[in-house]
Amino acid sequence: MMDQSKQENMMNALDKFLFGEVLREANETARDHCLNPRNLGAIADSDAQAIITGPCGDTMEIYLKISDDTIQRAGFMTDGCGYTIACGSIATEMLIGSKVSDALKIDQHKIEERLGGLPEEYRHCALLTANTIRKAQNSI
Ligand code: FES
Repeated sequence: MMDQSKQENMMNALDKFLFGEVLREANETARDHCLNPRNLGAIADSDAQAIITGPCGDTMEIYLKISDDTIQRAGFMTDGCGYTIACGSIATEMLIGSKVSDALKIDQHKIEERLGGLPEEYRHCALLTANTIRKAQNSI
């Protein structure tokens, strides 16, 4: 369960995204994953987790629940921009059902590709997400 202050930070980031120019420029996939994020929230009994604050000051958290060397559940939290929400959402979808060793294959470019591309100034959101996945995987 996400704590109150993290949830407020995330809602503030979402507000900025929704009421700024960004949402209008987002493609349909990114907009959908921002407005309807999948796998949002921490996993209390996760087997692996990581948190990274990127150079922009935004933070991504990734949680993995693993059995039989397969990622059964994945969750994320972020106080970052709407594109970061979209990256966390689609990346956790990509993680669920993957072998742990395949999690490393989910890099910045694959996240961007699945989202149908990101504006140049938001490509670092996918990098932050990919780096957090890598750190979570290394925590196993
Ligand atoms: Fe920094 Fe999206 S603007 S992670």
